[in-house]
Order: sequence, then C-alpha cells, then structure tokens
Amino acid sequence: MSDTPQVLRLPKSQPVLRLDSVVKRYGERTVLDGISFDVAEREVIAVIGPSGSGKSTLLRTVNGLEPIQGGSIRLDGEEITAKGTDWSKIRARVGMVFQSYELFPHLDVMGNLLLAPVRVAHTDKAEARERAMRWLERVGLADRADAYPKELSGGQKQRIAIVRALMMQPEVLLLDEITASLDPEMVREVLDVVLELAEEGMTMLIVTHEMAFARAIADRVLFLDGGKIVEQGEPEAFFTHPQTERAQRFLDTFSFTKAREPQGLAR
Ligand SMILES: Nc1ncnc2c1ncn2[C@@H]1O[C@H](COP(=O)(O)OP(=O)(O)OP(=O)(O)O)[C@@H](O)[C@H]1O
Ligand SMILES: [Mg+2]
Repeated sequence: MSDTPQVLRLPKSQPVLRLDSVVKRYGERTVLDGISFDVAEREVIAVIGPSGSGKSTLLRTVNGLEPIQGGSIRLDGEEITAKGTDWSKIRARVGMVFQSYELFPHLDVMGNLLLAPVRVAHTDKAEARERAMRWLERVGLADRADAYPKELSGGQKQRIAIVRALMMQPEVLLLDEITASLDPEMVREVLDVVLELAEEGMTMLIVTHEMAFARAIADRVLFLDGGKIVEQGEPEAFFTHPQTERAQRFLDTFSFTKAREPQGLAR
C-alpha cells in the first residue's frame, strides 16, 4: 500500500453541486443571471468567458463569499444558500484557490498548511503535519516546509496554496485563474498538480484563461457571458465547433492556443 495521500471520495448518487437559477446582483446590476448546472462527483468543469462575465463571482457564491439574491445552491443535496448555513463548515468541504496565493506571510509553509485543519477542523496536529508532509512530497516541495512565502517562487506559492486547500480534504475544489499571475515557466508546474488531482477523481470547478489546459482537463466546458451560461459542452466539441457566435468570437481571441496543441496535457 502506498501512503500517497489521496483525494477524499465518497460514493454519491446525487450531484456534488447543484446550482439552480442562481441570481447575483450588485445593486441594480445583475452579474449572475439565472445560472443552473450540476457538478457530478469526479467531474471537472472548466468555466471560461470574457472578463467581467461573472466567472469569479460564480465561484465565490459557491463558497459563500457572496450572498445570492435568487435561486439556490446545493452541496450533496443540502441547500447551502438557505438561511442559517454555517459557512465555515461548508468552506471546509469546498476548497478554493485564488489567483493571488494569499498565503499568510508571517507563517512558514507548514504553519500555513496547519492553520485551518488544526484551528478550524481540530485535527490532531501530528496527523495534520503528516498529511501536510505527504502532500508536500507529492507537489515536490517537501524540502520547503519551513520556508516563508517570501522565500518561494510564484509557482511554489501556488502549489502550496493548492495543498493548503487540500489539507481540509474538500469534496470540491474551486480554482480561480490560479496561473494568471505566474511567469510562463511556472504555469506548467502548477497545472501538472491540477491534472494529477483530476486523474485521481477530484471534483473541480476551474476558471481559466488557459484554453489548452481547459481542453485537456475538463469533462465539460461552461462558457459564460453577461452572467449567463451561453454555451456548454464537451471540450473537443466546444473548442472545435462552438455553437454560438459569442463563443466563436471569444475563442478567436485565443486563436494562438488553437494552433498550439495541448502537448503532454492529455488526460
Ligand atoms: N464587489 C463588487 N461590487 C460591484 N460589482 C462587482 C463586484 N465584484 C464584481 N463585480 C462586477 O461583476 C461582474 C462580474 O465580475 P467577475 O469578477 O465575476 O468577472 P470575471 O468573469 O471573473 O472577470 P475576469 O475574467 O476579469 O476575472 C463585473 O462586471 C464586475 O465589475
Ligand atoms: Mg475573475
């Protein structure tokens, strides 16, 4: 038996996530305009779309960072947008990684990784530390456990941020443009970690501008524009024959990625 840490997976008969007619407004402005979709266990969904289309807002509503004004969001059948939801409990089950790594600068890597499991989930410290070391080994950073964030490269920090989210053994992982602030040479090392998680069956909702990556990793692509799902489908079909003019126009702005095959990113 390998002691490699694995993502937590429970057999499910219902979608892990179900969004039903979700509406998000800022004042008069409707930013999410009736978003409905399911995320099955082990499914990887890439959310793409132009700037301002509502991608980040969508992820933030799932994590309770933004209250919604209409519709509902269910996690394992339980409505998490109902009144009285304990969001700290939900956030332990729904991990999120942002574009900016947001590691605590005054804590070393291990301190960052132990904070939530020990303080929030009351995991035994030795056990959490062992879990952290195994994940660090997996992402190639076992020798940096006592480094501070400022001593790490962007790609290293982002791999730590992913591990930090995994420490809570979430059922779903939400990734919002996690490579957008990285130098090109560091993008790959971060995407490789995400690809491995996908292979292991981690359920993920991934907002990305890396079209080749989306194409390689996603089971399904959601294309958002103006707060609506304008088109969705399997990646091959979506990227080669988008059905809507809006999606076509959007993909044209990424035409360089069409020429570039997702080499080595095949799932
Ligand atoms: N706190 C806020 N208050 C008011 N409007 C907001 C707020 N946050 C986001 N918006 C607006 O909501 C819309 C959707 O924003 P969001 O950040 O979700 O877009 P996005 O698709 O993630 O864009 P990008 O690709 O640039 O990250 C935008 O028009 C934005 O200006
Ligand atoms: Mg965004």
